Amino acid sequence: MTNRALAFSFALIAFIIAGTHPAAAQRASDRVENLLSEMTLEEKVGQMVQLTIGTVVREDGHPDGGIALDAGLLREALVERHIGSLLNVHQASLSIEGWHTLIEEIQSVATNDTRLGIPVIYGIDAVHGQNYTREGTIFPHNIGLAAAFDRELVRDAARITAKEVTASSQTWNFSPVLDVGRIPLWPRYYETFGEDPLVTSKLGVEAVKGLQESGRVAATLKHYVGYSGSDVGRDRTPANLTERVVREDYLPPFAAAIEAGALTVMINSGEIDGRPVHASRYWLTDVLRDELGFEGVAVTDWLDVVFLHTRHRVAPTMRDAVKMAVEAGIDMSMTPYDYEFADRLLDLVQTGEMSESRVDESVRRILVLKERLGLFNNPNPGPERASEFGLPESVERARQAARATMTLLENDGTLPLRRDARILVTGPAANSLTALNGGWTYTWQGVDDSDFPAGTQSVIDAIRERAGSVEYVPGATFDSEIDIDAAARAARDADVVVLALGEDGYAEWVGDIDDLRLPDAQLRLADAVISTGTPVVLVLIEGRPRIIHPHADRAAAVLMAYTPGMEGAAAIADVLFGNHNPGGRLPFTYPRYPNALDTYDHRLTQRLGRGFDREEDAFNPQWEFGHGLSYTTFDYSNLRLSSDAVGRGGSIRVEVDVTNSGDREGRHSVLLFTRQHYASLTPPVRRLRDFTTIDLVAGETSTVSFDLPASALRFVGQDGSWQLESGPFDVIVEDLTATFELR
Ligand code: BGC
Repeated sequence: MTNRALAFSFALIAFIIAGTHPAAAQRASDRVENLLSEMTLEEKVGQMVQLTIGTVVREDGHPDGGIALDAGLLREALVERHIGSLLNVHQASLSIEGWHTLIEEIQSVATNDTRLGIPVIYGIDAVHGQNYTREGTIFPHNIGLAAAFDRELVRDAARITAKEVTASSQTWNFSPVLDVGRIPLWPRYYETFGEDPLVTSKLGVEAVKGLQESGRVAATLKHYVGYSGSDVGRDRTPANLTERVVREDYLPPFAAAIEAGALTVMINSGEIDGRPVHASRYWLTDVLRDELGFEGVAVTDWLDVVFLHTRHRVAPTMRDAVKMAVEAGIDMSMTPYDYEFADRLLDLVQTGEMSESRVDESVRRILVLKERLGLFNNPNPGPERASEFGLPESVERARQAARATMTLLENDGTLPLRRDARILVTGPAANSLTALNGGWTYTWQGVDDSDFPAGTQSVIDAIRERAGSVEYVPGATFDSEIDIDAAARAARDADVVVLALGEDGYAEWVGDIDDLRLPDAQLRLADAVISTGTPVVLVLIEGRPRIIHPHADRAAAVLMAYTPGMEGAAAIADVLFGNHNPGGRLPFTYPRYPNALDTYDHRLTQRLGRGFDREEDAFNPQWEFGHGLSYTTFDYSNLRLSSDAVGRGGSIRVEVDVTNSGDREGRHSVLLFTRQHYASLTPPVRRLRDFTTIDLVAGETSTVSFDLPASALRFVGQDGSWQLESGPFDVIVEDLTATFELR
């Protein structure tokens, strides 16, 4: 009998003898409870460890499309150290077959060679499609998806990602990022759904539902909580946020996604108000478990227990660090290179400083997760699901997604371009696949164009396919000059210039910057071509709003493309030549100046003018949150409310007519804001309360309606609790305003 079969027999016998375990009746199956009762302390502690795959590979062997495992190291990890989870790729992405082989080898050791046969749970960062499997369907990063304000789109992207994650034999996806992008310097900005907590909540819920719908993949809400609120905008730096701000701006997406059934969370590597989150029992247990009701697995981020000791210096020893993190509430440690966490935890329990029941609690959650994902029945789901990988309809959805993200910021009529125009294409992003896809594409940093499948288009390829007379002069790399004079000369001879600027791939702290402006070389290129007088269409391919003032004001048109993914070049060209009518709206405020990084929902007192008249809002970003043009025009009229007063438990119906007053069909997102006239804490100038997307043919009018519950008007008071204060409120939809009273 194999170990696995033996374990099942034990489980069956225990089940017959003990019946259902009363304490865990609602949370764990008999299989889980019986396994738990069989496990040694070493086996339990091992389940709480997650290693990166690089710790068990042979450095000398990388078969094409795969990873060569070191049998000895793998045995040590799984059989001797009882490791419960592995993650990541080693150096580069794998082919789908490479994943199947790898997971088969791992699961075969885990299920056949270990005493209890518990399968490994394998985690991956499929953060914009299955970006670590070659030929996977790559979607725009979240920042672009958010611009479409389209819940269905996010749900579909997540659903397709989950299919390809399963087809690649993985079951745990470290996505979605629910950090709210309030600080544009932050290098993980592109992983966010932008600056608004409501957009992040709504789209985050769709991402979780789409990922988990099949029951074979667990989503991970990351990075719980406050990670993106860093004071200085660099990765993993302190967020000196008050509890009120955390609760109002950063916590709601996590609360909503937990409510939607998210199975796992990953912890913020930074700190809130001086307390590293990995060491905060308050955030990890009192709030996450007791208040938000989260019952799933809380995994640390990379090396973060170690960092409590070595970087944050709140733990004088590694042992203290382990104790702190486990007492705070983590279930699994992404150690990710060694067994020190396991050793220290074992010692803590053996010396009585930590109870075994605390360990049981986490192991139970981990086993429940494995069982829910079907791992006990099929630890290598990929081969039988391989036919769901890279389907033409998935690629088509990625293309639609890329198109839907496109956000037209300026247009003096130069766009759409004529196909017979003499076009100069210049700028570093024009000839770069990595810029289009950003970080987390085939490799962590996503910086190697040779990783992409043959035939993947750059912007220049896509333009050449659509126009007859196209010249390309690079002008500059992302950070240095190449031939700016040549670009300017060519601009003079052209009818129009397409200038593609932005950022190359980067991920996490590697993308930290000291200056939000685009690098000098790119700004010089912009200046040189714009100064020729030939109309310049500026295409921004970037993961965060790099400042481009004053050049942006001199461009004939500006298209924001974010990091649109594999189908991005075609989407950009479709907009440039008018095959697609852009409908994206900025999910963040695009700043004009480096030191004016206010969000749209700032307080009036934050942006008062400089002169004597200090009552007006002097907010003057380059482009506002929600800004986005179209090749048609949308007019708003007849904003009406179902009542001019609403009670605290009630709700008000808001209706507005939207007319496509131009001459072509268009998609348009309608954004509903409110403004509270007076409150006990300075109210924001406005807050987004709802949004929807409509399609209108030329001349068509549609009535858009929203139900606005009074509860949506709450804010977090100084004591950290949500409050609703009566008084007058404005409803703002585009340039229309209506007022009602909350009683
Ligand atoms: C990142 C996480 C990611 C993890 C595993 C960390 O460095 O912060 O977002 O899920 O690595 O790759």
